[in-house]
Amino acid sequence: MEKELKTIGVLTSGGDAPGMNAAIRAVTRTAIARGLKVKGIKKGYNGLLNEEIIDMRPKDVSDIIQRGGTILGTARCMEFKTTEGQQKGAEICRKHGIDGIVVIGGDGSYRGAQKLARLGINTVGLPGTIDLDISCTDYTIGFDTAINTAMQAIDKVKDTSSSHERCSIIEVMGRNAGYIALWCGIANGAEDILLPEKYDYNEQAIINNIIDSRKKGKSHHLIINAEGIGHSVSMARRIEAATGIETRATILGYMQRGGNPTCKDRYYASIMGAYAVDILLQGKTNRVVGYRHGEFVDFDIEEALNMQKSIDPYQLEVSRILSI
Ligand code: ADP
Ligand code: F6P
Repeated sequence: MEKELKTIGVLTSGGDAPGMNAAIRAVTRTAIARGLKVKGIKKGYNGLLNEEIIDMRPKDVSDIIQRGGTILGTARCMEFKTTEGQQKGAEICRKHGIDGIVVIGGDGSYRGAQKLARLGINTVGLPGTIDLDISCTDYTIGFDTAINTAMQAIDKVKDTSSSHERCSIIEVMGRNAGYIALWCGIANGAEDILLPEKYDYNEQAIINNIIDSRKKGKSHHLIINAEGIGHSVSMARRIEAATGIETRATILGYMQRGGNPTCKDRYYASIMGAYAVDILLQGKTNRVVGYRHGEFVDFDIEEALNMQKSIDPYQLEVSRILSI
């Protein structure tokens, strides 16, 4: 027989992302509205193992929907990857009366949630990462804010790059995933977009493209490079030496992970937070929430982790066509 859910916990794990606060707020207020108690677990699985657990009331999540970062803090926790760590985590949940947990993070965080589910704690994951690299969903909390932050920064660099007739290499975040690079590449009108999933290390092709675009009369050449490829500074040096065109590298870095979430991130994170609570109340566990084909949906964690997604070749082709 299903046990009745009385108290749920909420934690953020892995890299932070703008919109996580909106999700925490939605989980807290939906759960309380449905008659549950809520506990906030600080600093991801670390805070669980260290029992950094606080009561959450509706007013504890006041005035946070517009704030970047996560009020609960986040961390990476090696101990939670061990069986002992996971058992300790489940025991601590039971000690605090936590019978369900909403985990806001990426694939790694879902694996932790899966382990807790196997140990009898009902779990639901929400996709929280600026990288958009979670296969079961077309949307992740924080991506929209990150691309808008990066896009605005790139516009500024492009202004000065055009004035000086320079080539700019701008490095955006994304360790294994080029979604930020692709979206900004198209939105900022880049001449070249280097994606970790597709890059062939053919620097000569980039050099030829720069020379061609200069011949066509372009006053600048914008290259968006993903963090996963990296080496933007040395690439700039080599390009300048080969083309004779002044080339500068700008690494946008952590600014992309902070800042006030966009309307889209606040809205989607709010709906997903409420959805997570409601599926826990339906007795579901070991699930991850996604947004696919215009609908909020949920999947078994194992099924979600086995899904694949990749950069759409048509969108990549369009980015090339538009930069002629
Ligand atoms: P993300 O959730 O953004 O993918 P990580 O991969 O760093 O970030 O994972 C966040 C945390 O999730 C890890 O520090 C660890 O505590 C937990 N975690 C990751 N993988 C596992 C695993 N296989 N088993 C249990 N916990 C895990
Ligand atoms: O996953 C989000 C992300 O910002 C990646 O784009 C980046 O590679 C990574 O996190 C950086 O993580 P850390 O905070 O550990 O430097």
